[in-house]
Amino acid sequence: TAHEEIDLKRFIRHVPDFPKPGILFYDISTLMRNPDAWQLAMGRLARQVAPLKPDLLAAVESRGFLTAAPLADRLGCGLLMLRKCGKLPGETISHTYDLEYGSDTLEIQADAIQPGQRVVVMDDLLATGGTLAASVALLRKAGANVVGASVMVELTSLGGRNKVDAPVSTLLTYKE
Ligand code: PRP
Ligand code: MG
Repeated sequence: TAHEEIDLKRFIRHVPDFPKPGILFYDISTLMRNPDAWQLAMGRLARQVAPLKPDLLAAVESRGFLTAAPLADRLGCGLLMLRKCGKLPGETISHTYDLEYGSDTLEIQADAIQPGQRVVVMDDLLATGGTLAASVALLRKAGANVVGASVMVELTSLGGRNKVDAPVSTLLTYKE
């Protein structure tokens, strides 16, 4: 179809020096704005993730929410949120991880996963891998069988996928 001709990379905007000097920001806003490109991206993601036969997709706050929700709908599986600290009601399990400067914490509802359920982690982008690695660790604490991780954009020069103890699939890779 005409869809297959679309080069999705054309729709990712590169913003230099955001959020800090020296950082090149890969902006998916310009992809989401285009209905054909966004539909194509979600279709390709769905084809990548479907063979993993997830029971649940785990969406990483906040940009992971954008890909995980439409994908769960397409695949007919459940959806859960990995949120930044203090946002989820009820009993939660948390995992704190180191950033370049300081640390961050992700949380999950303690009853989100039945032991052994197949879970795929979804985020928009893989850079250092810190966020995905922490997400996998947190999901395991909560009893998940983490069968994979899926992102739209991977920055390969940072070697982030080596930090992630699960198979990582990506739609678009950049060597920088
Ligand atoms: C960005 C991006 C990924 C993460 C990737 O999220 O959406 O979640 O960084 O970086 P890493 O591989 O080095 O961990 P950010 O923390 O900026 O927050 P947001 O999704 O809420 O915008
Ligand atoms: Mg994020």
